[in-house]
Amino acid sequence: MMTKSGPPDDPEVPLYRRLAARWARLIEGGVFPPGARLPSLRSFGRQMSVSLTTAMEVFRVLEDQGLVEVRPQSGHYVRYRRPLPPAPGRTTGGREPVLISPGDMVMRIFHDAGDASFAPFGAAVPPPEFLPVERLNRILAREVRLRPERTQSYDSIRGFAELRAQIARRMLEAGCAVDPDEVITTNGARHALYLSLQAVTKPGDTVLLETPTYTGFLQILEALRLRALEIATDPRDGICLEALEDALARRPAAACVLVPTFGNPLGHCMPDARRAALAKILMAARVPLIEDDVYGELYFGGTRPRAVKAFDRDGSVLFCSSFSKTIAPGYRVGWVVPGRYVQEVERQKYVTSVATPAPTQMAIAVYLADGGYDRHLRRLRETYQALQARFVAAVTEYFPEGTKMTRPRGGHIVWLELPPGLDSFALYQLARRHRISLAPGPIYSASGGYRNCIRLNYAVRWSDAIDRALRILGGLAGQASRKSRKSGKPASSDRPPIATRPM
Ligand SMILES: Cc1ncc(COP(=O)(O)O)c(C=O)c1O
Repeated sequence: MMTKSGPPDDPEVPLYRRLAARWARLIEGGVFPPGARLPSLRSFGRQMSVSLTTAMEVFRVLEDQGLVEVRPQSGHYVRYRRPLPPAPGRTTGGREPVLISPGDMVMRIFHDAGDASFAPFGAAVPPPEFLPVERLNRILAREVRLRPERTQSYDSIRGFAELRAQIARRMLEAGCAVDPDEVITTNGARHALYLSLQAVTKPGDTVLLETPTYTGFLQILEALRLRALEIATDPRDGICLEALEDALARRPAAACVLVPTFGNPLGHCMPDARRAALAKILMAARVPLIEDDVYGELYFGGTRPRAVKAFDRDGSVLFCSSFSKTIAPGYRVGWVVPGRYVQEVERQKYVTSVATPAPTQMAIAVYLADGGYDRHLRRLRETYQALQARFVAAVTEYFPEGTKMTRPRGGHIVWLELPPGLDSFALYQLARRHRISLAPGPIYSASGGYRNCIRLNYAVRWSDAIDRALRILGGLAGQASRKSRKSGKPASSDRPPIATRPM
């Protein structure tokens, strides 16, 4: 049980008790939200100018009061007041491929993201305050002034050489030794994905996807008249390899498109052994993998997860990424390392855009070379990890019983499975009236499933208003859940945004 009050700041009271009371107030006031990690005993002692023994006494009192818990080999954490929501279970895939027709809802969610009056839980867009906006813009202005001739002619089709060299250098951290010449720059990751799919498929082909999957894939599949076949996915470990093998045994597929590292929307991260096995399975079936790694550098652990591309033995992995989640979504700079499809992707890039704008590529190249990026990334990862703890605490506290939630080890999105019967479209409409945006589950599937799921973006500047918005959203979810329980069927709502037709 928790005790609310601590002893007063009375010099008669032993120092460790006074300190414990002060820290209890910090915890109860939300400075350290549930799930937050407290300083180590040593840094606590240093910060408070007390001995290690006093620091240990303070933490013991906080533990006795039920405010803090010890996690072996990890440290002291603020305890949650209610049991944490469990993780959602493994999803189920479809049996037949379908043609997709995404509706307008996805566009509306993206539109709301640009409206500052909304609590921005819908689109997965980092707020400018988290990004090195001024620094980058200064570099851009300087580069344009110093090398005006570069900005006035077409860049080479493959892209700005200095940037490609920086990208190749950074890809080493993901376990990929690629030559700068193998890198093709693009207008963001979506362009890279589009070019890759165009290079390896033809209309009518079947493409294998995780389920739920990134909506952008579904939109590209629709544009290229491709069929989607969704494969069961584990919210922690990613695509189920048995289900994938089963699908491959049943029908031919032209490509497999995945986000193996902090997938969107589940946040899963494939363990290395599964990545190696995945590469092997797809290679044996002669199916190219389009690997989307836009969240790869936003890991919370000590090391960057290795890309599946690191296990590529025959050039059949097309690795796509961008700087949209880490530096500047507005600069629209991404890239693809297409392996053995390099000529085809280069041709498609020429057909669709001739070249990528030089000024933004030049600015990002200089920024990467300048040494500020790693420091910026460290801060960004810490920020997201702390924000995730706040979101977990808020969902634990405000959302209805029966809510399940992912807790990804990187990125900035969480997936919530709300009580069965709850209609996420109705919740979306209701929340919108309160100027809260969210992404309803069915936009992440070609099959119209995930009706009771939502995705929340937690790349937001934390404030009382954000906390209030989460409380309101949790309250609305509670109401919707009670309503659906009473009526025995989901509340009425808009038509599902993604219409599908089996082939
Ligand atoms: C998985 C995934 N891939 C690609 C993108 C798009 O990236 P870009 O803005 O670089 O086109 C997003 C953006 O939300 C994403 O979540």
